[in-house]
Amino acid sequence: MKNIITIAGSGSGYTPGILLTALSYKDEFPIKEIRLYDIDEERNEQMRIIMDYLLHRENVDVELIATSDPQVAFYGCNFVFSQIRAGGMKMREMDEKIPLKLGLVGQETCGLGGFAYGMRSMKSFVELVGFIQEYAPDAWILNYTNPESIIAETVRRRFPKAKIINACDMTIGIEELLENSFGYDRQNFISTYYGLNHFGWYREIYDVQRGKDIMPEIIEKIITQGFKTSDLDPSWAKTYQLMAEMQQDFPQYLPNNYLEYYLYPNKIVEEANPDYTRANEIMDGRLKQITDTVSKIKEKRDLETINYQSGVHGQYIVRMAISILHSRNDRFMLIVPNRGAIPNVREDAVVEVPCYVNAKGVEPISLRDPIPDFHKGLMEAQVAAEKLLVDAFFEHSYQKAFQAFTLNQTVPNATVAKQALDEMIKANGDQWVELKGGPTYASVNY
Ligand code: G6P
Ligand code: MN
Repeated sequence: MKNIITIAGSGSGYTPGILLTALSYKDEFPIKEIRLYDIDEERNEQMRIIMDYLLHRENVDVELIATSDPQVAFYGCNFVFSQIRAGGMKMREMDEKIPLKLGLVGQETCGLGGFAYGMRSMKSFVELVGFIQEYAPDAWILNYTNPESIIAETVRRRFPKAKIINACDMTIGIEELLENSFGYDRQNFISTYYGLNHFGWYREIYDVQRGKDIMPEIIEKIITQGFKTSDLDPSWAKTYQLMAEMQQDFPQYLPNNYLEYYLYPNKIVEEANPDYTRANEIMDGRLKQITDTVSKIKEKRDLETINYQSGVHGQYIVRMAISILHSRNDRFMLIVPNRGAIPNVREDAVVEVPCYVNAKGVEPISLRDPIPDFHKGLMEAQVAAEKLLVDAFFEHSYQKAFQAFTLNQTVPNATVAKQALDEMIKANGDQWVELKGGPTYASVNY
């Protein structure tokens, strides 16, 4: 069977990488049609031009359309790869800058930036899944939409039967980093990881060739040598340097890099530039690359410099689709309802654990042993904060949002939580659901 793939949020700079990966697996994953779906029509058209060029360059016959009409996008498709970014980079910039100006971590998916983004993303994603349920109820949704834990919790509540797999490429990104830094082959890893999205730890990295857990040796190398970051984007290089420092402080388990926002908010804030954040870097980098590439294609110049590559982001999602199609039972870290997978964490948390993927969907692996109190404590606070935010969304409750903001572990007190919340309500306008019971209702000036 040949597949019809819809990429939701196709204006993203990651889209060409997904295409190139998919084409490299064309025997296992034959594609008939690719549909680019984005509400930003201008960017989507730019992406169509790039994708069309790449398809011709690779000499493959795949139908390609770009649309902002959900019916055209989803009707009859069998896979949706979703990577929508509600509010685009402009609102990512606000998510990062508003907290920073208040002395708090300003990050896309962590801290209050992640919660502001979460409020927008829930609204857009519920609408998106609604369209898919209407036009392609049998399609598999392979979802990268952030902030993933919040989105997974929302979909579970609103569409409990949706055929969705929530995934994040960070663990495969970390494994690739281990490979590049220390010369391992990650194909030999059987990893055991647990936590929440962007909030977890490796407990074991079993090496199939050597027949043992090599995590202690990896941790030793991280502590003594650090990571090899010379060929990485400078922001990511910095992130991984701090991750190595975090490893020194907590040498028992290998942490997800995103924990640095919760454990060292002081360092993060000190080193950040509140006037030029990651969103600015992306706008001046990845997004500009899209416009530049389109000009090159239109003017037929410097074509050899067009540099899009297949990377882990594309590989993870395409390999998941293949594992479903061929019922391969490949193993991925995925974001699923806990239900005992981590035995001493609440049942109704949405956690990130290893899972097998096959024709039935996802089969999570139980960790069986309890996790340490340090991790459990951090996780439980985060789960409660995320759940409160999702409650706030469904109940339109200012009070729940305020509680979520206060409980977030990057926030030192309720006063600043409220300041941030009120600023974010203003900045987001109708991109958030209306929250009732807040200052606009309570504090009328007479
Ligand atoms: C990783 C994370 C994604 C996140 C991205 C941000 O891939 O898993 O969830 O969105 O990094 O990267 P950027 O280059 O946009 O800052
Ligand atoms: Mn992620």
